[in-house]
Amino acid sequence: RSLSLLSRPRLRWQHRSAIEVTNEPILEFKPGSPERAALQKALNALQGKTETIPCVVGGEEVWTADVRYQVSVSSSSCMHPDLLNKDIQAALAVRREWDLRPVQDRAQIFFKAADMLSGPRRPEVLAKTMIGQGKTIIQAEIDAAAELIDFFRFNAKYAVELEQQQPLSVSPSTNSMVYRGLEGFVAAVSPFNFTAIGGNLAGTPALMGNVVLWKPSDTAMLSSYTVYKILLEAGLPPNVIQFVPADGPVFGDTVTSSEHLCGLNFTGSVLTFKRLWRQVSENLDRYHTFPRLTGECGGKNFHFVHASADVPSVVNGTLRSAFEYSGQKCSACSRLYAPDSLWPQIKAKLLEEHGKIKVGNPAEDFGTFFSAVIDDKSFGRIKRWIKHAETSPNLSILAGGKCDDKVGYFVEPCIIESKDPKDPIMQEEIFGPVLSVYVYPDKQYKEILQLIDTTSPYGLTGAVFAQDKNVIDEATKILRNAAGNFYINDKSTGSVVAQQPFGGARASGTNDKAGSPHYILRWTSPQAVKETHAPLGDWKYSYMQ
Ligand SMILES: *[C@@H]1O[C@H](CO)[C@@H](O)[C@H](O)[C@H]1NC(C)=O
Ligand SMILES: *[C@@H]1O[C@H](CO)[C@@H](O)[C@H](O)[C@H]1NC(C)=O
Ligand SMILES: *[C@@H]1O[C@H](CO)[C@@H](O)[C@H](O)[C@H]1NC(C)=O
Ligand SMILES: *[C@@H]1O[C@H](CO)[C@@H](O)[C@H](O)[C@H]1NC(C)=O
Repeated sequence: RSLSLLSRPRLRWQHRSAIEVTNEPILEFKPGSPERAALQKALNALQGKTETIPCVVGGEEVWTADVRYQVSVSSSSCMHPDLLNKDIQAALAVRREWDLRPVQDRAQIFFKAADMLSGPRRPEVLAKTMIGQGKTIIQAEIDAAAELIDFFRFNAKYAVELEQQQPLSVSPSTNSMVYRGLEGFVAAVSPFNFTAIGGNLAGTPALMGNVVLWKPSDTAMLSSYTVYKILLEAGLPPNVIQFVPADGPVFGDTVTSSEHLCGLNFTGSVLTFKRLWRQVSENLDRYHTFPRLTGECGGKNFHFVHASADVPSVVNGTLRSAFEYSGQKCSACSRLYAPDSLWPQIKAKLLEEHGKIKVGNPAEDFGTFFSAVIDDKSFGRIKRWIKHAETSPNLSILAGGKCDDKVGYFVEPCIIESKDPKDPIMQEEIFGPVLSVYVYPDKQYKEILQLIDTTSPYGLTGAVFAQDKNVIDEATKILRNAAGNFYINDKSTGSVVAQQPFGGARASGTNDKAGSPHYILRWTSPQAVKETHAPLGDWKYSYMQ
């Protein structure tokens, strides 16, 4: 299959405007394949280069003295509130015109960007995600290619189809619903771990007629800037999305104190999200409209294993979920509950496979399973958890856990057994390649399900491994609020756009289900219009005669 074939748009316009879109196929990158050769070329092109990235103010590139470095990148930070305020003004200046563009026009830009990512720009954005964010080929492919392309295509389809949801008209009036963008600007704060999330956070509000200030993560600058450029090349007018690398607190303070803030989508820590929410409440009196606040803040995701489970699925599913991308996914499995009858088998197999995991530089050695964690802060935090495991009498390290920051922030995949189901390591998010296991007596599985539900403040993802249908049924009921994405006999990671819409409640966030039609509704402020075609004859009612 050649790469140029891939650039053919995979959508068909049917009568009126139902649009057929399918998920972007995930390429395999087998030795000798054209996609592998193209990727290798793109990786080579990035070697030893430093790309410089401006901050964009009112459509102009601005180079500030405050320069940040990511691997292979230096970027100018729009540190100053004055620059940010200029961005806000520039965005607001184009808002009306952008919002009035027919949704089909706006959607075309995203279909085009998806086609560019699917075809000619795929190797570049993959290479930048691999090098910049330390991803393996497959982790970059499912993110920067498949998921981002799917977000653009499906959201564009949902946006166009939304127009067909119209109210009843009763003679002599016609009623219609106008899907307006929100009045003001949307602030989007994206994380380092998914190139696709950045594109979706900034892109989807824009698709719906909003203007957006996008603060990309310092550690995903290379890929984020490329996505931004691709959107412009696909026809996104200047100033609809403002690309503003900035310090979190400066950005947060400036956007929350603007009277024009109308929406905020945040991905990151609970603490920061709460801080932004509080700032918005404190500024409530200034705003023209109630800002929509949405956030995704992580998880403490579980794999519950029942005595009737299929052991190999448990082992391989858990290894992938816990350790892929060094566990730096909000959906990563970080607590495993195993029944004592199966534990010896599960443990033996986990340790055996653990020994085969290669940690290294995935851009140089395609055989690595995962790479270094993203930065020194992350490294330090994970190291503290491993130290905790070493010193706590209730915890024992079964495998891995060595930390080495000589050439990168490398952490060996670590498996820990906890005798205490309520140890902080079973409750708090770690965001690293650390899996904690609690072994329970088979008979007590119901109590364990209750325990899983009440152990952590999060409610993002979770999985149940069991062959017994009654157990699956019970678990599904008891864990109803424990996970927004719930898996049965499958791992807790790997949600696919339009197949498993993503998001969780509790401390995990506002559960807006990215990758579904519900998501786009957050970015529209509908207007109901009634038009009457007959003269209004009377003000008196018949009963008054
Ligand atoms: C689990 O993964 C290993 C390594 O990829 C593989 O050898 C083994 O067959 C897998 N087990 C099952 C049941 O698929
Ligand atoms: C990405 O990382 C952030 C932390 O920077 C985390 O809060 C978020 O949940 C992660 N999202 C996903 C989809 O992994
Ligand atoms: C060890 O676990 C038990 C409960 O299983 C708990 O009561 C005790 O406080 C824990 N010890 C430490 C040091 O955390
Ligand atoms: C906000 O962004 C996250 C991804 O980080 C996404 O899961 C969530 O659905 C988004 N919410 C809205 C309303 O855009």
